Amino acid sequence: MEKGRNSEFSKDKQLDEFRVDNAGEKTTTNQGLRISEDEHSLKAGERGPTLMEDFHFREKMTHFDHERIPERVVHARGFGAHGHFQVYKPMAHLTKARFLQDPSVRTPVFVRFSTVAGSRGSGDTVRDVRGFATKFYTEEGNYDLVGNNIPVFFIQDAMKFPDLIHAVKPEPHNEMPQAASAHDTFWDFVANNTETAHMIMWHLSDRAIPRSYRMMEGFGVHTFRLVNEQGEAHFVKFHWKPVLGVHSLVWDEAQKIAGKDPDFHRRDLYEAIEMGKYPEYELGIQVIKEENEFNFDFDILDPTKLWPEEIVPVQLIGKMILNKNTDNVFAETEQAAFHPGHVVPGIDFSNDPLLQGRLFSYTDTQLIRLGGPNFHEIPINRSITPVHNNQRDGYHRMTINKGQVSYHKNSLAGNSPEPAAPEEGGYQHYQEKVEGRKVQRRSDSFKDHYSQAKLFWNSMSKVEKQHIIEAFRFELGKVKSKDIRAQVVNMFTNVDGYLAEQVAAGLGLEAPPNPDEVSGTFESPALSQENTVKTPD
Ligand code: HEM
Repeated sequence: MEKGRNSEFSKDKQLDEFRVDNAGEKTTTNQGLRISEDEHSLKAGERGPTLMEDFHFREKMTHFDHERIPERVVHARGFGAHGHFQVYKPMAHLTKARFLQDPSVRTPVFVRFSTVAGSRGSGDTVRDVRGFATKFYTEEGNYDLVGNNIPVFFIQDAMKFPDLIHAVKPEPHNEMPQAASAHDTFWDFVANNTETAHMIMWHLSDRAIPRSYRMMEGFGVHTFRLVNEQGEAHFVKFHWKPVLGVHSLVWDEAQKIAGKDPDFHRRDLYEAIEMGKYPEYELGIQVIKEENEFNFDFDILDPTKLWPEEIVPVQLIGKMILNKNTDNVFAETEQAAFHPGHVVPGIDFSNDPLLQGRLFSYTDTQLIRLGGPNFHEIPINRSITPVHNNQRDGYHRMTINKGQVSYHKNSLAGNSPEPAAPEEGGYQHYQEKVEGRKVQRRSDSFKDHYSQAKLFWNSMSKVEKQHIIEAFRFELGKVKSKDIRAQVVNMFTNVDGYLAEQVAAGLGLEAPPNPDEVSGTFESPALSQENTVKTPD
């Protein structure tokens, strides 16, 4: 690989400073003392008790006793790899983000794929949403695109996330099941929170049992903003498209593989990279002009809705290649801290109420998961750009900040950093005009829970529809409460009468009543060209 102005090598070099190879070395204590015995503790006489004095025994045991950290509260099971990203063409017309300008620049990335509901040791091929989180180590700081393999989400407001996850995770009284959706609390939540309908259709489709992480799409889900040098903003949705195409297992395979090889997906990714068959994904964007925000019969701030690709086409703007496995899963994959709020100049947020809540949640959880406020200093989380600020101290601080002054503004010393002006690369928040009263509701179209669920169902082939029906039967079949099963079947009459009827028949339930009129039909108002901004050739 040629070097040049490639940050790819700076991340690897940075990690290299922390890599340790024990091969051929003599064992030491953590104080660097060589030891002569690593099998027998120090005792008072051959048949006597172990002595407290044995510092090596105490250290070895204490370190072992503290090896575990909490698993992620969601997405606990995951697997990661290193690689790089290159943009195809300069994207200056849309964003000033530097890593999206020069096609010759390779930006290093670290990607973690995950399931959502199961614990760290659960199976890979379960029916679940998959996480697809990418950390770009850019020349302007870390940018994290923390996405999923399904383009919409279960809920519309972050306020409900704890409720959703409490319903999805194993039930509290018996910690069963590991499977995300085959239990009462999951379906009770669905039946009582009908904004889940669209995501449920994806969740019960073959998308939720991917063949391989190499054959899986990724989606940023929320609407974000791209902002160019002139300060102009466009709304954007991010996509990852696997070069190998999208492929899924069938349910029978997924179940058998889960028994025979629970590590199926991580093994597949690891071995592909070891063999030099590097997974590749193209980055796509959908772009909507700010003035077209209200051109649609859904609210672009509603994360349960996608932007149909026939109305707002996806433009492919770059490619990511994963070409290196980790040296140590704990140090790298487990300690990685992704955050949708890690942005660089030229990328900004929208007012999607789910995204807004995520901006709070990730650092908050990582403060406890990774033991205090200095987890940005863990090698995998370090930016390749230098870090200068007045923050100090805290558990596990690695940096030795020199000088007397750690506050801004001061006249005592020149060692306190000054904020950079926007033209020097200082991040500037997009100055969106916001006005209105404090309210807890959103626009009326947030109440349309079925139009896009129906759109999804109608886009399925006959075989795919049959898979969805069978998935409903399997997952709902594990629900003990007959009332919940009936409630769910009735709910999905709003998506499709035949679907509901077939599910009911499979569960031995009475045929559901006639479907209600579907609230709000989906009509795309505008032509693709009018909705998007083409990247110049
Ligand atoms: C992980 C919260 C919605 C994708 C996490 C974690 C939390 C969390 C607390 C664990 C982070 C850690 O321990 O490092 C939330 C909240 C949400 C939300 C509060 C909604 C309000 C979403 C959505 C997506 C998503 C919509 C996809 C677009 C992910 C991924 C991970 C994750 C991929 C795993 C990251 C990794 O591999 O380390 N989320 N999440 N989350 N979340 Fe979310």
